[in-house]
Amino acid sequence: MTDAVTLLTSDHRMVEELFSEVEGRPDPDPGVVHQIVRAGSGHDAVEKEFLYPTVRQRLETGGELADHGTTEHDEVARTLVAVDKAEAGSDELTTALHTLIGLVRTHVGEEESQIFPALRTAMSTAELADLGETLATAKQSAPTRPHPLAPSGALGAMVAGALSAPLDKVRDIVEGRP
Ligand SMILES: [Fe+2]
Ligand SMILES: [Fe+2]
Repeated sequence: MTDAVTLLTSDHRMVEELFSEVEGRPDPDPGVVHQIVRAGSGHDAVEKEFLYPTVRQRLETGGELADHGTTEHDEVARTLVAVDKAEAGSDELTTALHTLIGLVRTHVGEEESQIFPALRTAMSTAELADLGETLATAKQSAPTRPHPLAPSGALGAMVAGALSAPLDKVRDIVEGRP
């Protein structure tokens, strides 16, 4: 079973690989852009729903770390909306992708250097495995489009996620997205 930190870290590497395919390109592949929107939206939702409430509860400075992290998530989600809305090949898309990549790299750096090591210290192997299982399950029904206005409380986010995932999938099908 994959523990929570390993699962989230491998998500980070996957997104970084997608970034390397579009970074600095004047005409990024729309398929890769859609994959970035999908992966980023899902990761955003499951971390807000399950990682940050755990951070808040279990780490000594968890309140501060969670406030800071969720503020960054809101910025990332708003930027994902801009990426999702921008026309293929437009300047808006280039700008939004550039902003997104910068925001995500900073945020991921903070998670991996501060939050993940602190969770490994504060939580047992079994607890990290349980959280990993919760995250893996949540990813199956996570939204595929960004929802920056979703309520940030755990229950609210879960309800918003449950409602938005099927609607996102219908929109993806209508728009012919993978
Ligand atoms: Fe995050
Ligand atoms: Fe993350």
